[in-house]
Amino acid sequence: MTPKLNLLRLAVCVAFTAIHTVKADLAIYTDGALAQGWENWSWSSDINFAATDERSGTSGSSMSVNSSAYAALSVKLEGTFPGYAGLRFDIAGAQPDLSITIQSTGDNDQSPTISLSTISKTVVDGTFSSLLIDFNNLPGTGSQLGNDTWDRLTFQAGGNGAVYHIDNIVLVDEIVTTPEVLSAEPLTDHYVAVTTQGAVDLSDIKVSLNGKAIKIVNFTTYTPVDTPSKTITYLQLASTFSQGNLTVSSASGNATFTTVLPAVQYGSIVQQVSTPINPHIYGVNFPTSASYIQHLGVTISRWGGNAVTAYNPSGDFTNAGSDWYFENRGSDSADDWVGWVGAAGSDSLLTVPALDWVSKDTTSYSYPKEMYPDQQKFDPYKDDAGNGILPNGSYVTPPNPNNVYTPWNTSLAKTWLQGLKNKPLMVAIDNEIEIASGTHQDMHPQSMGYDEELARVIAFGTAAKEALPDVLVVAPSTCSWWFYWTSDIGYSDNAAHNNIDFLPWFLTQMQAHENSTGKRVLDYLDLHYYFAPDTGANDAAAKALRLRMTRSLWDTTYVDESWIGSNPQNHQWNPTSVNFIPRFKTLIQINYPGTKLSISEWDSSDDTDLTGGLVTVDVLGIFGKYGLDSATYWVTPDELGPVGLAYWLFRGYGTYFANATAQVNLATPLPDTQGVYAGTQNGKLSLVIVNKNPDTPISFYLANVPTGTYFARHFGGQAGVAKWQTTLSLKINTYLVVPAYTALFLQQQ
Ligand SMILES: *[C@@H]1O[C@H](CO)[C@@H](O)[C@H](O)[C@H]1NC(C)=O
Ligand SMILES: *[C@@H]1O[C@H](CO)[C@@H](O)[C@H](O)[C@H]1NC(C)=O
Ligand SMILES: *[C@@H]1O[C@H](CO)[C@@H](O)[C@H](O)[C@H]1NC(C)=O
Ligand SMILES: *[C@@H]1O[C@H](CO)[C@@H](O)[C@H](O)[C@H]1NC(C)=O
Ligand SMILES: *[C@@H]1O[C@H](CO)[C@@H](O)[C@H](O)[C@H]1NC(C)=O
Ligand SMILES: *[C@@H]1O[C@H](CO)[C@@H](O)[C@H](O)[C@H]1NC(C)=O
Ligand SMILES: *[C@@H]1O[C@H](CO)[C@@H](O)[C@H](O)[C@H]1NC(C)=O
Ligand SMILES: *[C@@H]1O[C@H](CO)[C@@H](O)[C@H](O)[C@H]1NC(C)=O
Ligand SMILES: *[C@@H]1O[C@H](CO)[C@@H](O)[C@H](O)[C@H]1NC(C)=O
Ligand SMILES: *[C@@H]1O[C@H](CO)[C@@H](O)[C@H](O)[C@H]1NC(C)=O
Repeated sequence: MTPKLNLLRLAVCVAFTAIHTVKADLAIYTDGALAQGWENWSWSSDINFAATDERSGTSGSSMSVNSSAYAALSVKLEGTFPGYAGLRFDIAGAQPDLSITIQSTGDNDQSPTISLSTISKTVVDGTFSSLLIDFNNLPGTGSQLGNDTWDRLTFQAGGNGAVYHIDNIVLVDEIVTTPEVLSAEPLTDHYVAVTTQGAVDLSDIKVSLNGKAIKIVNFTTYTPVDTPSKTITYLQLASTFSQGNLTVSSASGNATFTTVLPAVQYGSIVQQVSTPINPHIYGVNFPTSASYIQHLGVTISRWGGNAVTAYNPSGDFTNAGSDWYFENRGSDSADDWVGWVGAAGSDSLLTVPALDWVSKDTTSYSYPKEMYPDQQKFDPYKDDAGNGILPNGSYVTPPNPNNVYTPWNTSLAKTWLQGLKNKPLMVAIDNEIEIASGTHQDMHPQSMGYDEELARVIAFGTAAKEALPDVLVVAPSTCSWWFYWTSDIGYSDNAAHNNIDFLPWFLTQMQAHENSTGKRVLDYLDLHYYFAPDTGANDAAAKALRLRMTRSLWDTTYVDESWIGSNPQNHQWNPTSVNFIPRFKTLIQINYPGTKLSISEWDSSDDTDLTGGLVTVDVLGIFGKYGLDSATYWVTPDELGPVGLAYWLFRGYGTYFANATAQVNLATPLPDTQGVYAGTQNGKLSLVIVNKNPDTPISFYLANVPTGTYFARHFGGQAGVAKWQTTLSLKINTYLVVPAYTALFLQQQ
């Protein structure tokens, strides 16, 4: 049905050298030793500064590094290194899992985390790859390093450590950007979006369709402030697109791009058929700053996760449980957090601890080596703190909780909430407490069953409503599909509850509680939802899977491509299809009508790949279309990364997708490869179209899309994740194009 399509990059372009006053490059490491002025600030790593077993070039030596989990090669200059253009280094190793950051120890600032795999995916053992980080175009986001008192450079290993050789580390004074036309893609009905880097002359650019030249009537060039290394030029054409071969060629840029424009898919938009979109679907966990909230239009912020279960507001102490060696540490003040988040324009969802203990200080930990010498792992930063697991995988017998914690109960929770200067809109009754016997094994080693979980939600939910009468209670924030239906005790617990699966039972009990007390304690059925299929390989097949598994949120015909689809574990209807939003709305309707539905943790399955951003666009569209009531991304998407761009697309800088849906009818819905979402507000249309095909554009004839002026935003495409926006006019609605791997937002003006 889809014609065979082709996007062919025919040629690349010229490099020329600019005249430039050059200060010297600054060496950090060459043969045998760190350069003068550089100090070794590494940790938990075996480092040989004069290794001769593998070296770049034929003489001298390289540095060999063997870092344990999260350990690092780190070097600091006695002084600062402002104003350099980039960092170059030679590296060999089997694609070591490394994150690179540039830091200012003086100001406690740090660059975005640059994962080595965003610079190169082909680092191999035995041969050095010479890599460059352009400080004006940071790998992954295209953002700038900015000016600061930079003095430290860290190559940090991931959770499995990293083994590699590194050589010739140097801060370079100048990077010559090769002028290049990176992409030229048809957009909407009569525009071509041309992405360039460096000084490219586009004055002789030519466009033709099926061999016939089309006149360019206007050029508008746009350079985004936060990703200035690329520029986009919108070519407005004299005539509109139609099916066929589009060629864009730049003689000065030495580049030709050919795109096959496909046959249209027919559809219509009906603004009169509309349901409200709850603005709380555009939330995140732990936004980084007020400007982050404003730039991305974050509507609700959650204070949640494993590290808030033991949050003690009296002293601001917490403990991350099994996420980090059961160690106490300091925390921000939840009260202050609700305050600044609110001042920035976001509502908040605050988690109330609901186990029996909270952290008592910033320093204690549950499994000291001297008390439990025989453990599987110890904190690389704190040798004495173990993970509470014996070498054979069994849990260590839990310690006395008083060593690390102080008792917690509903009256303490109530006192805390009553005393808050800043009131949250919603409170969650703890976080994933159904798995506390693992995550908080030190203070809640018993398996949590149906009855205990219900009792805790009722007790702490009631206390929260007594303290804050208007607060909305969100629970039980269950971690995954398995635990939606049974407890940590196992099927015997289902059996003890008439074989009713956990969540329907829980909802019925919350209804029964309201019947007997006259008061609703539960306002939102809250779940965590992480797509179950494994897309970790991140190859073409995994990316396609990632992009189609969004169907699990709504589609009854989508058999989950994970164990869920083959091994049903519950007593629910159509159990091999997750069908998330409709399923839980139905369960609510049956068991506790009037309860809202929220997802306080979800993710795209990849925060750094473009496909993760496209998944996020699709999901935000689905949340609106299917009437979810609230959602917060786990954890904090990078503002300039692909997931952040999805929020920007819908909500950036005060331009919001409509507050109500409009009906979309498509002759060929093709949900594996595309998503089309429409909204209406004050009679004006908003559209978001996401093209999930990696290399083929899609085109639509959308009846009832008015012609006229639109505000447009898009990201993705052949030139990567960078974002762009402009105002453009639609002449026709009969042939609208969205390029490959691109998300497009249009809002009628
Ligand atoms: C254009 O690109 C081709 C292929 O990369 C190259 O061989 C040729 O020299 C370039 N022409 C100019 C004028 O730079
Ligand atoms: C650099 O620091 C690391 C810390 O892990 C240490 O192992 C290594 O011996 C140090 N090297 C030198 C030359 O001081
Ligand atoms: C790296 O260090 C670990 C732990 O000390 C050791 O088991 C491993 O063999 C080392 N790897 C190499 C390649 O030296
Ligand atoms: C950094 O400083 C230089 C020179 O002072 C200036 O040209 C440049 O724009 C600054 N960069 C940023 C990101 O502020
Ligand atoms: C070209 O586009 C710009 C930006 O949209 C607009 O301000 C200008 O009026 C246009 N020029 C013509 C000749 O249409
Ligand atoms: C487009 O180009 C392909 C070859 O790349 C050719 O087979 C096809 O006929 C062309 N289509 C039109 C409408 O010219
Ligand atoms: C959407 O906003 C408009 C005002 O712009 C308002 O009149 C309308 O009631 C809102 N609709 C919903 C569903 O919130
Ligand atoms: C692990 O070792 C402990 C202590 O020796 C023992 O009590 C426990 O039964 C062992 N667990 C398994 C699964 O073998
Ligand atoms: C909670 O703990 C405090 C302090 O120990 C105690 O005074 C209070 O009675 C307890 N409340 C409940 C409901 O157990
Ligand atoms: C709650 O009360 C309603 C109305 O009386 C009744 O229909 C329903 O069965 C009750 N539900 C439970 C779970 O007690």
